Amino acid sequence: MNSSFINPELEQKGKNRAASYVRKRFTLDKPVRSASAVFSACGVYKTYINGAAADTQVFLPGFTAYDKRLQYQQYDITALLTQGENVIAAAVGDGWWRGEVGLTGIRNYYGKNIAFLCVADIVFADGTREKIVTDTGWKATQDGPIRAADLRAGETYDAAKELPGWHSPGYDDSGWHGVATASYAGELVTSLGEKILEHETFIPEVLVTPDGSTVLDFKQNLFGYTRFTVTGQAGQRVTLVHGETLDEHGNFTLKNLGSKTRRFQRIEYTLKDGTQTYQPTFTAHGFRYVKLIGWPEEVLPENFRAIAVYSDMEQTGTFECSNARVNQLVSNVRWSQKSNFMDIPTDCPTRERAGWTGDIGVFAETGSYLMDTRKFLGKWLADVRAQQGVNGVVPNTVPDVMSKAMGCLNGSAGWNDVVEILPTTLYKMYGDKDVLEQQYESMTRWLDFCEKRAKRTHWLNVFKRGSHRRYIVDTGFHFGEWLEPGHVMVKDTLYTMFVKPDAEVATAYFAYAARLISDIAGILGKTGDKVKYVELYDKVKAAYQKEFIKDGTVKSKRQCRYVRPLALGLVDGESAETIAKQLNELVIANGYRIGTGFLTTPWINSVLVEYGYTAIAFRMLENTARPGWLYPVTRGATTIWENWNGIDEQGKPTNSLNHYSPGTVVGWLFSCVAGIKPLTPGFETIQIKPTPGGSLMFVNCSYKSAAGLITVAWKLENGRFTLEIETPRETEVVLPNGSIRRVEAGKHSFECDIA
Ligand code: BGC
Repeated sequence: MNSSFINPELEQKGKNRAASYVRKRFTLDKPVRSASAVFSACGVYKTYINGAAADTQVFLPGFTAYDKRLQYQQYDITALLTQGENVIAAAVGDGWWRGEVGLTGIRNYYGKNIAFLCVADIVFADGTREKIVTDTGWKATQDGPIRAADLRAGETYDAAKELPGWHSPGYDDSGWHGVATASYAGELVTSLGEKILEHETFIPEVLVTPDGSTVLDFKQNLFGYTRFTVTGQAGQRVTLVHGETLDEHGNFTLKNLGSKTRRFQRIEYTLKDGTQTYQPTFTAHGFRYVKLIGWPEEVLPENFRAIAVYSDMEQTGTFECSNARVNQLVSNVRWSQKSNFMDIPTDCPTRERAGWTGDIGVFAETGSYLMDTRKFLGKWLADVRAQQGVNGVVPNTVPDVMSKAMGCLNGSAGWNDVVEILPTTLYKMYGDKDVLEQQYESMTRWLDFCEKRAKRTHWLNVFKRGSHRRYIVDTGFHFGEWLEPGHVMVKDTLYTMFVKPDAEVATAYFAYAARLISDIAGILGKTGDKVKYVELYDKVKAAYQKEFIKDGTVKSKRQCRYVRPLALGLVDGESAETIAKQLNELVIANGYRIGTGFLTTPWINSVLVEYGYTAIAFRMLENTARPGWLYPVTRGATTIWENWNGIDEQGKPTNSLNHYSPGTVVGWLFSCVAGIKPLTPGFETIQIKPTPGGSLMFVNCSYKSAAGLITVAWKLENGRFTLEIETPRETEVVLPNGSIRRVEAGKHSFECDIA
């Protein structure tokens, strides 16, 4: 494909540059049989053909590892062309290419200049062809209404500078300037993910907060933007600042997002005369609240809409039970997923908006119960492979937005492990072996790295003896368990960086990687590798036990230290029973409150149920005290908080309020409480093993699996458990009294007494 881009900026310099508008006029003097066009940009773009938007998608070309791969979009434009004068036009903004990215807000990460690509191929009725490509025949201006646009900082818009008809034939572009050609060094690839579209809309309640500000409350935390209609006079200015919460005094705040001084999630709009409607083109925000400054007329709710934007995945899972707070929790997790699935899986839609590897590693299974993630995550994995170093290390965020500033933090156990965890999850949920094939080399490269790293010894451990030490990972940077209740993010990071990495976590993940990769080698028929990795796993497991299990048990007050070896099968037999018993006691002593962080939260309930502590798992689920999953619900949360402390009892917010990672308990609701699991990958055969518990009197759950729709409806009445299921495949049904039935596809009912 001809990939000559144009750089539309000839003279622009400095930060926060105005958006570029480009257009190409051409005349067609013969009837057109068919026409197609390919567009892309280093930046973000919106294209028009004869005034009509080429796509309803937003934030194109989407986000990929731009140093390696850039997506293009392809359209059939036959119906949009006419005989006579035609115009192909585009607005181009900074986007991820050169806008603020990652924790540090570094700019120009992928380049200083934006660029636009068009390749239109027109076939006339007589069989002749014409190509319209981005060359020096295009015209451009930066003197349009979008004065500045950054995905995170916001958009500055001057309606007086609108260019009526700029994207249609007949517009006088004699005042526009020429363009320079440009090129893109990486690979151009077709769009691989789901479409990025506008979805739900919300009308706000208008609040006047104690400090006298007017604040819109859309009642749902989300990722997207505000559309508004305003009537006023040219030159009047309104500002909309988007945030997730009110503070402890009831006032609008951005403090929890760490943005005290920076321009952040802000729309600055200058009016033209009369009534006008605006929504941003090149920015979006994570928000529930909008602070309005300078609104020139009465603030009426109907003049505002919050529009949610996310990748267009099909909703595959529903879960409803008799505890309304649990139902709200499910909704909160779904909204955190929607808010963080805009072309790449991000940590949060506000502060960093980065494709943190560890976050999706822990959340992928839950996310795949709720929505069909196969295409979306498959697209992202291609970037993981593209950005993996020859040594096996993957940047902490993919696409990479951190290494230039904080590359020394790459290679963390539990984060880098996404290379084997995510393919394993996708195979389990969708049965797709290709993803294992495609990712195999990447995961083995990482495992080799872990093996080499284990051979090194941290200077504080040089006097430790034993041949097992060759399998203990005590060097490198590791985030560790991360964000346990009471832990402070920065302190944890500095400790592991400058004092001592958490060898228990890193060694456990080394073993886990060896086990998952040995399984995958078996599935792919790589027998030699299988044997090799099983041996490696056995050695690391033995080393883990020797180093971290004393007298058959764990000596720690931290729940994660018990959950991890149990969940990963690093302890067996009596020792496992003892550790589970101690975990149970620890949870009880903690008032049934959760004590785990980022990495073991997904496993704690399953581990408790597996070892017979079902009642405790449910008490922890339904506990409304902090820290716990339902505490945020009692505080009116509509998404999942990054930190168990999120908003304290006095209403003081900390950190992001929209991180899906602690929401993995919803995966447990599907797989354990409703009990829907694949017996074989992709739900080719199914297990339905419901687990009643706590206050739950009924559960209605549905999951549109890769093999078809599965429904589970159970209820408890007078000590009698009844279950109705619908299944598309042969299914093993395990009732709470332990009895097992095998049924064919179809609808079935069961009953049993329950102790
Ligand atoms: C992100 C996380 C991420 C973490 C690394 C944070 O700043 O928001 O979700 O995984 O850093 O531990």
